[in-house]
Amino acid sequence: MKRVLIITDLPQIAEHLKAMVAREQDVELAGVQASAETGIAQASTEQTDIVIVDGLIQGKIKGREIAKRIRSTNPGTRIVLVTVPTKPEVPRPEEGVDAVFVLPGGANELTTAMGAQRSSRREGKGQMIAVYSPKGGTGKTTIAVNLACTLRRNGASVALVDGVMQFGSVRHLFEIPDTARSIIDLPAGAAMRASISEAVWEGPGGVDVLFAPPRPEQAELVSSTEIANAMSLLADTHDYVIVDTPVRLHEDTLPVFDEATTILLVITYMAATLATTRAAIDTFDALGYRGKKPILLVLNQADTNAGISRGSLEHTLNLSVVAEIPTDFKLIGDANNKHTPFVLMDPNAPASKAMGALATALVTQKRG
Ligand SMILES: Nc1ncnc2c1ncn2[C@@H]1O[C@H](COP(=O)(O)OP(=O)(O)OP(=O)(O)O)[C@@H](O)[C@H]1O
Ligand SMILES: [Mg+2]
Repeated sequence: MKRVLIITDLPQIAEHLKAMVAREQDVELAGVQASAETGIAQASTEQTDIVIVDGLIQGKIKGREIAKRIRSTNPGTRIVLVTVPTKPEVPRPEEGVDAVFVLPGGANELTTAMGAQRSSRREGKGQMIAVYSPKGGTGKTTIAVNLACTLRRNGASVALVDGVMQFGSVRHLFEIPDTARSIIDLPAGAAMRASISEAVWEGPGGVDVLFAPPRPEQAELVSSTEIANAMSLLADTHDYVIVDTPVRLHEDTLPVFDEATTILLVITYMAATLATTRAAIDTFDALGYRGKKPILLVLNQADTNAGISRGSLEHTLNLSVVAEIPTDFKLIGDANNKHTPFVLMDPNAPASKAMGALATALVTQKRG
């Protein structure tokens, strides 16, 4: 159940929104506040998943300012700005406005704005993106986690799968309860379908996460075919399935790459990364992926180029870079250690904006 807070000083608007929220299945009302101050206070002291802010609220603090303040204290909360047709507004996630709802509007539009509905508006299967690098430590896990949160914030339904069965570290980038389940709790084969939704953990902003087993000795109990099966099932109900992957390319890991619809290669300006990535691309070619699934490059720590130019890198790999993520040890190190995705911790940071550009590139190549 997602908890929704409504902030408006007009009782008619409050009633109109409340009636629509009441009809939602997976949403419940956390409260209605008539002033910016009490609204911001409730949003920051209580766990609210969605805040609907009247953009025309009277008083010193205006609607967009309310959104901005709530975003800074509660980065995981989805914020919807309410307006009227004569005062058009656009969503600006980096300023706290994830979606805009125009009055009077229908229940369907509100549902979409709240990002509450999972699957009914989707057509066909979601995109399955394997985030990969043959070199350890390039930033696969960091990028997979933050990409998932960015796509989700933009309104898509997103599942994140930790495909690294031994020492999978997606779980360490979130604050998760001891009770969170993992892929080890799922039955194999066709029986998986019935229980997959119970094995996922709902992360910040509503990303559905399927963790890798908690204990290293459990790794061998889950085959790659089962991970691929889980990816496919999650793609039935999500727009995107983002998969963090192990370094090893071998029979026992290939089903994940076979299943993926896109491979996102994380590279850095390091000769060793480029050489191993070149070899991995040759392997993907040998497997017949070329022409079948896009292989895209994301350049991490793009500002530390160590004498290699982007042009020569693209030439060596014969692929183009779709996004560049800058180095930010302070934000990314801090966020990872605080178990919070960095795009939620500071949506305005250059690295977060770069993740936004990566998400846009993926959405565009899906349409194109
Ligand atoms: N753009 C960046 N700026 C600063 N630090 C970064 C950046 N990207 C990743 N890091 C840091 O680099 C380290 C490795 O990142 P991460 O764990 O995401 O890589 P990985 O490819 O998943 O590694 P592994 O191969 O071990 O799974 C982490 O400490 C992370 O905080
Ligand atoms: Mg990793």
